[in-house]
Amino acid sequence: MTLLVTGGAGFIGSNFVLDWLAAGNEPIVNLDKLTYAGNRENLASLDRDQRHDFVAGGIEDRALVADLLSRHGVRAVVNFAAESHVDRSISGPGAFIDTNVVGTFNLLEAVREHVGGLSADERARFRFLHVSTDEVYGTLAPDDPAFSERTPYRPNSPYAASKASSDHLVRAYGETYGLPVLITNCSNNYGPYHFPEKLIPLIIHNALSGRDLPIYGDGRQVRDWLYVKDHCAALRLVLEAGRPGETYNVGGGNERANIDVVSTICGILDRLRPRADGVGYKSQIAFVKDRPGHDRRYAIDATKLRSELGWKPAESFETGLEKTVRWNLDNADWLARVTSGAYRNWVEKHYA
Ligand code: NAD
Ligand code: DAU
Repeated sequence: MTLLVTGGAGFIGSNFVLDWLAAGNEPIVNLDKLTYAGNRENLASLDRDQRHDFVAGGIEDRALVADLLSRHGVRAVVNFAAESHVDRSISGPGAFIDTNVVGTFNLLEAVREHVGGLSADERARFRFLHVSTDEVYGTLAPDDPAFSERTPYRPNSPYAASKASSDHLVRAYGETYGLPVLITNCSNNYGPYHFPEKLIPLIIHNALSGRDLPIYGDGRQVRDWLYVKDHCAALRLVLEAGRPGETYNVGGGNERANIDVVSTICGILDRLRPRADGVGYKSQIAFVKDRPGHDRRYAIDATKLRSELGWKPAESFETGLEKTVRWNLDNADWLARVTSGAYRNWVEKHYA
């Protein structure tokens, strides 16, 4: 029995691979294209671990995927591979269509062919778990109920639209070809190995390096934050006990305005790593031009996952954020390496 994980060198994927192999012995084949967001260093602790087979390549490479599926006797695919940053999807949407839409299509085709060659029993046990986002549902007004699995799709950014397209394809392969598919739609994750182009790690990195802490617009946009390891635990449950053809929303019930998230990070840093001049990190906050089409509020109703599969998050936002700030302080080398080179070009261009 083997799992094929795609995008397992990225933020959530690498946390999933590390947690999976810490909890059991089922091997993982990890297919990752190593874009700017993929980092083998996240998996360095598995360098000599026979249970982890890393393959550099893309989900769009059907022949490669077909070979991996048959050679390793894969019993489930967990698809994390994607372009994931909303701001990059605004300045360059093409890569999002290529990977999130066309890539997912090619992956599904390779899986469909593979599953077609399995025995009826093996086919019934096979799973294709597609890891998606709450952004497919669009945006909420302050008093709207949280997104449920029945909320209509209304994506607002090229990223969200490309993920919505991939969700539709996955669902259609379940309905049309009987592929045993599962979809999860999760809210904003944070935690170890989070690439510092996203709000929480960017703020930690900028604070420590004396830079501005950029807040888009009025900073009152709300996100529903979930510690990454709680997301990974939810994915393990869905893979094990989720009903094929179903969608599960995943979220921590931690709605916070961006300005409050940034202020909380500043407070933690003031305590753990005070600035030499004694001035609080909040003094570095700078309000900048808003993101076009910026969704105002996300909130997830995870009742189905909680009641059907018994999931509940282990971390509160406060404990998870403290762990995340400490992880970044303890892994300054990792942060320094991922913020060199191409990262600098992105930051200079985007925040110019
Ligand atoms: P990430 O950008 O950190 O990692 C993406 C990984 O996919 C990278 O390792 C990259 O090299 C790899 N990749 C990109 N294109 C590829 C291709 N064509 N073939 C193979 N590998 C490729 O992303 P993340 O934040 O870890 O998100 C993982 C998944 O979870 C994505 O599908 C994303 O939409 C979804 N998601 C993310 C969040 C979040 O808050 N980060 C929340 C909900 C859902
Ligand atoms: O909701 C799930 C989604 O969460 C995932 O599907 C995406 O892959 C992931 O990137 C994330 O998307 P967001 O756009 O919500 O995350 P980001 O960290 O980019 O931004 C969080 C909020 O902070 C958002 O309202 C924009 C704001 N922001 C972001 C950056 C990078 C700022 O105010 N300043 C910034 O510099």
